[in-house]
Amino acid sequence: MPDKISKTVSESSIEGHVYKVFPNDLNAHGTAFGGMIMSKCDRLSLVVAERHSSHVCVTASVDSMHFRAPAKENDTLIFKVAINRAWGSSMEIGVRVEAENSYTGDNKHILSAYFTFVALDENNKPTVIPSLAVESKNQKRRFEQAAMRRQARLETIDKLKAHDKNER
Ligand SMILES: CC(C)(COP(=O)(O)OP(=O)(O)OC[C@H]1O[C@@H](n2cnc3c(N)ncnc32)[C@H](O)[C@@H]1OP(=O)(O)O)[C@@H](O)C(=O)NCCC(=O)NCCS
Repeated sequence: MPDKISKTVSESSIEGHVYKVFPNDLNAHGTAFGGMIMSKCDRLSLVVAERHSSHVCVTASVDSMHFRAPAKENDTLIFKVAINRAWGSSMEIGVRVEAENSYTGDNKHILSAYFTFVALDENNKPTVIPSLAVESKNQKRRFEQAAMRRQARLETIDKLKAHDKNER
């Protein structure tokens, strides 16, 4: 079957993956361990990237991972994960994590992050992926902002390479 050339956001997104915070998830400060949350974000984003590309994907970079508020023991973490944009072989996946007190219904936004994944072929080389068809106003906004972040990312990589070369 030929590869599909365009896919929508909803074909790969994860709307509300939930995870209950237990005592073994806490740091020495008594709040949810950030590394545990980051690891889950990476795994869930990977699923979205592989759904979109239909290929094995690897994490190429993570940027703008901001912890805005702590999650507490007994909170329910809610992960919302969606593709923002696809380029040649790479794609940006956005993650939003909320912490819900399931008894009161209180809900706070605790983390936003952007992951770049690259799809690989059977020889472990970057391979072409379907483009992204954006539909809603929010999807279009994220699509535009993803381009700005990609430009900043690639410029930083180039600057660091040039700096390394000069330092040798
Ligand atoms: C990511 C990886 C596959 C890119 O391979 P590469 O040979 O550098 O590929 P290219 O230079 O041809 O770039 C391929 C794509 O990756 C993107 N890319 C490469 N490095 C990147 C980075 N650091 N951040 C974001 N995107 C990156 C390029 O922009 C390009 O995107 P496009 O095809 O959509 O235009 C390679 O660097 C790699 O295997 N890294 C290790 C990944 C890994 O092990 N992750 C798990 C973490 S433990």
